[in-house]
Amino acid sequence: MDTYKTVADSQVTLTELMIPSYANFGGKIHGGIIMGLMDKVAYVCAAKHAGGYCVTASVDDIDFLAPVEVGELVSLMASVNYVGKTSLVVGIRVISENVRTKEIKHTNTSYFTMVAMNEDRTPLTVPALILQNDDDIRRFFQAYHRKQLKKYYRTEETRIKSDFEMNETIELLRTERCKIEKAK
Ligand SMILES: CC(C)(COP(=O)(O)OP(=O)(O)OC[C@H]1O[C@@H](n2cnc3c(N)ncnc32)[C@H](O)[C@@H]1OP(=O)(O)O)[C@@H](O)C(=O)NCCC(=O)NCCS
Repeated sequence: MDTYKTVADSQVTLTELMIPSYANFGGKIHGGIIMGLMDKVAYVCAAKHAGGYCVTASVDDIDFLAPVEVGELVSLMASVNYVGKTSLVVGIRVISENVRTKEIKHTNTSYFTMVAMNEDRTPLTVPALILQNDDDIRRFFQAYHRKQLKKYYRTEETRIKSDFEMNETIELLRTERCKIEKAK
């Protein structure tokens, strides 16, 4: 019989102070630091829902919308958006806050697909999800839709690879910023 959990059961927020050692040569916070924190909060949220160990299977696009400064507080809000059988999608919204000016920036949002694991490293069935409000329903539906789109992209990618034709490709690349200097 299916077990169920609510979205609220595993919702989690991680807040971290951006210290100077997180900065790049330009003085802004490294994108990799934010990505590492996203992976961490995705794990906590997924493990709470699954009730066990989880691994990251895939990460959707991460667009950085605004730079993060040293001294800001970064908060990552994570919740389970969707569950399959052994996989689940954790949606993460990242904001950064300047504690002095109180300015809050939305820096990025992304979706991590995590897979729950048994002790023997075989996938573990995760609890189904109870959707308690309009946001829960919208997020579940949007994640379902992204999953269908991903399947479509994968099929298209396979088709494009198998249909590859050199002369046609060289013709298509004429409008791109590249120069072909093939050895004869
Ligand atoms: C993720 C992993 C467990 C999937 O193993 P697998 O043998 O392909 O497992 P399955 O085919 O049974 O798939 C299990 C679930 O994962 C999902 N899944 C597998 N690969 C996926 C991918 N790339 N993207 C999204 N979902 C994926 C499947 O859809 C399935 O979901 P469902 O049970 O909800 O229907 C395996 O590829 C793995 O261990 N990867 C390394 C993970 C890791 O080390 N992460 C840290 C990265 S540094």
